[in-house]
Amino acid sequence: MIRVLFNKKGGVGKSSLTVNLAAISAHNGFKTLLVDLDTQCNSTAYLDAIKANDDSTIANLFEQTITFHLHRRAANEFCQPTKVKNLDIIAGSERLAELESELDSRHKIYKLKEALTSLSDDYDRIYIDTAPALNFYSLSALIAASRCLIPIDCDDFARQGLYSLQQKIAEIKEDHNSEMEIEGIIANQFMRNANLPIQIINELLDENYPVLPEYVSQSVKMRESHQAKSPLIELAPKHKLTLSLIGIFNLIESK
Ligand SMILES: Nc1ncnc2c1ncn2[C@@H]1O[C@H](COP(=O)(O)OP(=O)(O)O)[C@@H](O)[C@H]1O
Ligand SMILES: [Mg+2]
Repeated sequence: MIRVLFNKKGGVGKSSLTVNLAAISAHNGFKTLLVDLDTQCNSTAYLDAIKANDDSTIANLFEQTITFHLHRRAANEFCQPTKVKNLDIIAGSERLAELESELDSRHKIYKLKEALTSLSDDYDRIYIDTAPALNFYSLSALIAASRCLIPIDCDDFARQGLYSLQQKIAEIKEDHNSEMEIEGIIANQFMRNANLPIQIINELLDENYPVLPEYVSQSVKMRESHQAKSPLIELAPKHKLTLSLIGIFNLIESK
C-alpha cells in the first residue's frame, strides 16, 4: 500500500504527519518505507537521516534515470534504515530542484512508480512526503500511490484550496492512475476551544469532503518531537497527540 500526503499549501503538517504515521505503521509491525520528495528534507531531518555526501538520496535515484550507467542501482539500494525499528527512508535532497526540468522534459513521470513497485516485496507500507506544490515530484507521487491523505490546518485558506486539489486528483486518476483514491482529509493543528476550526470542519462535512473523524490537536509536543528527532510514538507514546495520530492510523488501516 503506497500512500502520499499532499496539499499545495505549506505548513499544514504534511511532513509531521508522514513521519508519525510511518513510525506508527512500523511500530505496528509493518515493514515501512518513507520517501521524502521535498527539497526541504524536513522528514529526512526529523528521522535524523541527513548524511554528508550521501549518494543514495531520492535525487540519486531519479538522476540515474537520465544519465547512462552500466549498472543501474536497484531501488532498494537507496533505502536506508532509520533509528525506528521497521522504518526505512529514501532520504530527501536539495538536488531534486536542479534535476526537475530535465526529468520533466524527458517524461520521467512514471519512474517513481516503477521504483516503488519494485519494492513491493520489501515493504508492507510506503508513505510519501511531498513539497507544497504540484510539481513534477508531487505528480510522480500521485501517480505512484494508491491512496492520498490531505492534511489541512483548519483555517480558511486551507479550505479554499481543497476544491481545486480534489479536481486535480480526479484528473490524475482519470489520466494516469485509476487506483488513486482520496483516503481522507486530516484536520491537523485542531484547537478544541476555538470556534473557527470546528465551523470549518462542519462546513467541509456538509459539502461531503471526507474529513477523517479524528482530529489532530495543536500541541507543543509536535515541535519537541521534531527537535528530539524522535517520532511521537517513541518520544511520548501515551500523549494525547500521539493517541490521535494512532487514531488516524487505525482509521485508514481499517478501511
Ligand atoms: N499538530 C501539531 N501541533 C503543533 N504543531 C504542529 C502540528 N503539526 C505540525 N506542526 C508544526 O507546524 C509546522 C509545519 O508542519 P510541517 O509538518 O512541516 O508542515 P508541511 O510539511 O505541510 O509544510 C512545523 O513547525 C510543525 O512542528
Ligand atoms: Mg513538509
